[in-house]
Amino acid sequence: MRILVIGSGGREHALVWKITQSKLADKIFCCPGNGGISDLAECIPIKADDIFGLLEFARREKIDLTVVGPEVPLSLGIVDEFQKNKLNIFGPNKRAANLEGSKVFSKELMHRYNVPTAAFNIFHDPQEAKKFIEYRPVPCVIKADGLAQGKGVIIAQTIDEGKDAVRLIMEDRAFGSAGNKIIIEDCLQGQEASILVITDSRETVVLASAQDHKRVFTDDRGPNTGGMGAYSPTPVVTDSLFKEILDKIIYPTIDGLVKEGIEYQGVLYAGVMITKDGPKVLEFNVRFGDPETQVILPRLNSDLLEVMLACSHGSLSKIIKSGGLKWDKRACVCVVCASGGYPASFEKDKEISGLDKVNKIKDVVVFHAGTKKSAVHSPQSTVKYLTNGGRVLGITGLGNTINEAIKKTYKAVEKIGFDGMHYRRDIGRRAVDSI
Ligand code: AMP
Ligand code: GLY
Repeated sequence: MRILVIGSGGREHALVWKITQSKLADKIFCCPGNGGISDLAECIPIKADDIFGLLEFARREKIDLTVVGPEVPLSLGIVDEFQKNKLNIFGPNKRAANLEGSKVFSKELMHRYNVPTAAFNIFHDPQEAKKFIEYRPVPCVIKADGLAQGKGVIIAQTIDEGKDAVRLIMEDRAFGSAGNKIIIEDCLQGQEASILVITDSRETVVLASAQDHKRVFTDDRGPNTGGMGAYSPTPVVTDSLFKEILDKIIYPTIDGLVKEGIEYQGVLYAGVMITKDGPKVLEFNVRFGDPETQVILPRLNSDLLEVMLACSHGSLSKIIKSGGLKWDKRACVCVVCASGGYPASFEKDKEISGLDKVNKIKDVVVFHAGTKKSAVHSPQSTVKYLTNGGRVLGITGLGNTINEAIKKTYKAVEKIGFDGMHYRRDIGRRAVDSI
């Protein structure tokens, strides 16, 4: 089979890495991919949001399945366009992708189907929003309605911070039209967990739980990032809590969508806060998480490609009949090595050292997020990898216990170097503390 993966981050490297292990995969392309992905797949410089460029490529190359990594092409309706052209694709269609693309849509859906989430109000007018903030308790959370690359959520500790957030989103238009509407909601306390499932709306298979680390610095200091590391499984999500999350959150959401005439096919990802009143939804994503995917897929013993194919055909029941997903019991940890300055501005083109040493370590795999290969000028010169993004590498290790996985991963991280590199020292510590 000929497979196309769309995207260029650590998540997409993990997807390509897992797909290469499938007996069904003959040839893998990635658009646009990165330095590490290009060792496993043919990378083609078509951007992830160039829907018609991707469509034309998939047609020309007779792609049997396209797997969409990031949310933007899903929100732009790539699935609808591919399906119109009879091309097989894994991911939700445009209406279903609204679950991530519009927080207002998502909160209203949760409200209609009694899915537990923070109490909220919707505002179209900044003056009304600011007036409301004066009378409601703080802290509160202000969220831009649309996609904002994970930056559209502001936790306001004071009334002034709340009003500033409204100004930033609705008046200064920091996230463009994503700020046409906002949500103001209660601030929830507790531990966060990422629960991902693959569903075709009739059947659902559940992926292993994971937790990511959004703040840039050790001990949850500094601004939010795309994710500085992750681990799986999360001990805070016990078997009974997992069942509660499925019964109260995942299944009612899928059923609710179906009742509204929306058939969901793909990954449904619930970001959940485990509060003292039970699990509540922070957000839905309509794709694999990044960096959660980097710790979930190394633990998956089943053929992911087979599962995604079945899902895209609406026949996940076949996977369930043949025994469902099989998991490696070991724990997995991923530590992200980031460029100096990230998540603010950073320099690129720094040479990365130590990859050859880490690639030899058993049960450690390096997923590239922001890298590229340097041009090779002569047959004698060897390929070098250069930094090409904020998050550069995700060093990922498996261990019999979470402690073992942490130790193994950090030992590997210490072998990697590039100018300005920084990483958190506490990935997985929360799991150790809660055991
Ligand atoms: P979201 O993009 O909605 O997941 O928000 C990003 C991050 O903001 C989440 O992972 C949480 O850490 C935090 N967050 C979002 N909503 C809330 C909330 N209602 N209460 C507390 N923290 C929140
Ligand atoms: N790890 C958070 C996300 O993928 O949105």
